[in-house]
Amino acid sequence: MSPVVELKNVHKRFGDQHVLKGISLAVNRGEILAIIGQSGSGKSTALRCMDHLETVDDGEITVCGHKLDRKPVNLRSLRQNVGIVFQSYNLFPHLTVLQNITLALIHVKKLSRRKAIEAADRALVQVGLAEKRQAYPEQLSGGQQQRVAIARSLAMDPQLMLFDEVTSALDPQLTGEVLKVIEALAVKGMTMVLVTHEMAFAYRLASRIVFMHQGQVWEEGTGEILKNPATRELQEFVGNGL
Ligand SMILES: Nc1ncnc2c1ncn2[C@@H]1O[C@H](COP(=O)(O)OP(=O)(O)O)[C@@H](O)[C@H]1O
Ligand SMILES: [Mg+2]
Repeated sequence: MSPVVELKNVHKRFGDQHVLKGISLAVNRGEILAIIGQSGSGKSTALRCMDHLETVDDGEITVCGHKLDRKPVNLRSLRQNVGIVFQSYNLFPHLTVLQNITLALIHVKKLSRRKAIEAADRALVQVGLAEKRQAYPEQLSGGQQQRVAIARSLAMDPQLMLFDEVTSALDPQLTGEVLKVIEALAVKGMTMVLVTHEMAFAYRLASRIVFMHQGQVWEEGTGEILKNPATRELQEFVGNGL
């Protein structure tokens, strides 16, 4: 079976800054890939390339059967297959939780209102927020807002979820409740790519870990690479953090 995500020798430049210098990686169905590395090492850029939010300069990306190069892509189909969640929740403040979730279901996925509400309610149950369906974002904690953002992606019924440091803006308790939701998705077999600073979480959950450094895959392996780094860079990055 072909991987859900595959990057082959991907290069990306912003102006004269060479941000991705030949990234290769693959994620199979049901796998969880954690991407770690210092700020500025290119983690977000790599993730954004997977959702075609950035176009690559060189190399090949295949995501859920879509080839992402500089030719036009069926974005509507790609966006239905791939959910992406960022550190900032990007919820519409003037819409209720339910309306935030049904928006794309109705306008992108073209579900009827009734089907959209059903899908939204199912997703809200998955993130443990069924009782907040009529609330507005400002009435929720940061952790709850992030769980709504996750529910909004889940409701699209994606084959792949991308998470970019989704707990970085949250205090430890709220971080815990969001990680719990991600862990439940993992148990259900969701394929995921997770950029994270939560080393213990990555160690426990990830099928594989990629350590990026200066735009390259510097080290890759199971959680064991965190315990026995092969390079000085990963050793310094992990420090006493595990
Ligand atoms: N849209 C952009 N325009 C110009 N430079 C960018 C852009 N996005 C990222 N960069 C630069 O690319 C490098 C890698 O950024 P990023 O992928 O966000 O790293 P990370 O997520 O690992 O912190 C940084 O030096 C950043 O400033
Ligand atoms: Mg980033």
